[in-house]
Amino acid sequence: MASEDYIIKDINLAPKGEILIEWVAKWMPVLNSLYEKFKGPGAFKNKKIALCIHLEAKTAYLALIIKKLGAEVWITSSNPLSTKDEVTAALVKEGVHVFAKHGASSEEYWSYLEKILKNKMDVIVDDGGDICEYLHEHPEYGTNVLGICEETTTGVNRLKELNSAGKLKYPAIAVNDAKSKHLFDNRYGTGQSTWTAITHLTNLNIAGKCVVVVGYGWVGKGVSARAKGMGADVIITEIDPWKALEARMDGFRVMTIAAAAPLGDFFITATGEKEVIRLEHIEKMHSGAFLANAGHFDFEIDITSLKKTAKSCQVVRDEIEEYILKNGNRIYVLARGGIINIAGGLGHAADIMDMSFSVQLSCLNYFLTSGKLEPKLIKVPEEIDRMVTEEKLGVEGISIDKK
Ligand code: NAI
Repeated sequence: MASEDYIIKDINLAPKGEILIEWVAKWMPVLNSLYEKFKGPGAFKNKKIALCIHLEAKTAYLALIIKKLGAEVWITSSNPLSTKDEVTAALVKEGVHVFAKHGASSEEYWSYLEKILKNKMDVIVDDGGDICEYLHEHPEYGTNVLGICEETTTGVNRLKELNSAGKLKYPAIAVNDAKSKHLFDNRYGTGQSTWTAITHLTNLNIAGKCVVVVGYGWVGKGVSARAKGMGADVIITEIDPWKALEARMDGFRVMTIAAAAPLGDFFITATGEKEVIRLEHIEKMHSGAFLANAGHFDFEIDITSLKKTAKSCQVVRDEIEEYILKNGNRIYVLARGGIINIAGGLGHAADIMDMSFSVQLSCLNYFLTSGKLEPKLIKVPEEIDRMVTEEKLGVEGISIDKK
């Protein structure tokens, strides 16, 4: 591939990336069976497909499947903090156009989106809504776009806003809202991988600790259930009265973030909203408290104000920053407030992403075989949602009764 067709950190990292991708490929049987199903009809042949998604081994495997189906593939990370440079190198070796580097600046990040979109994509996989936003600002790049498949809650919320304002210019599928996606990936996937990342980074025990989970949506439910399972004392904070009551009935203590601030040993945000943990809360926390974010963007904890007011900040361990506050307390921020399970770990389990990416591949196929559709937000077709879940049940060796 010509050197202007990719931007990565170091091509020599490819062998390590290949091992990571080979491993996850073994645990994605539903995606592998879809490859067998879609390769005959040839809908992907010579199509241009872009992915703007956390760039690690599972996403790389999705990109390779799309390429094997005959498409030309461009990929960048939806968050430079989650990019695995070994994986990007392995993808370039396989002929995928990659524009991503771990820790890329905001300027570099947006320039990557442009480098991809100017090649006039047919279908786009988005994760968080940034490439969709860029496409709306630069409609000259969108003339061939048949549709956008959105992976996560934050991106779907942005699409819903565009759709209800009548400003959505392309058909878009809310992949996140498929039952086979959010019921498993957001809940069990994030639930497990958030704690895998935190325990790995801190090397600390969770049993007996007080864990405060901010937001009791699908991600918050998974993170708190797993914390409870490990023996933590879990507190939930919410703004939605139904979710708050649901958390109470699930056996958790529920209170405001101001009340929870002095109690927590670990604070995990899972809302998709800006600055849900602010300086006024951090100043009430006890010395040694940990802050982490499981939401899509790194804005849920107000780290900017923390940086401005703290007496000092130093990296004390891989992905752990220690802030000394004016009151002398030490506060630890994990993965710089970025998406903890990916920026500070390996992301979701491969066999969970098998379902999410099977929905993605099926939705790409849907756009490629449906011709031009209306520019509106649509649901994942019921037959796709059901097919992926039934395939997964089959993989697990489970039969269920019929009505
Ligand atoms: P959701 O919409 O099901 O839940 C969000 C919850 O946060 C809602 O119950 C809402 O009432 C609550 N909330 C909003 N503002 C709050 C505040 N100030 N204080 C307390 N609670 C508040 O969304 P979901 O699916 O749980 O996703 C949450 C975030 O996680 C999104 O940014 C999503 O994109 C991201 N996500 C991250 C994953 C990961 O791998 N880490 C996987 C899937 C989603």
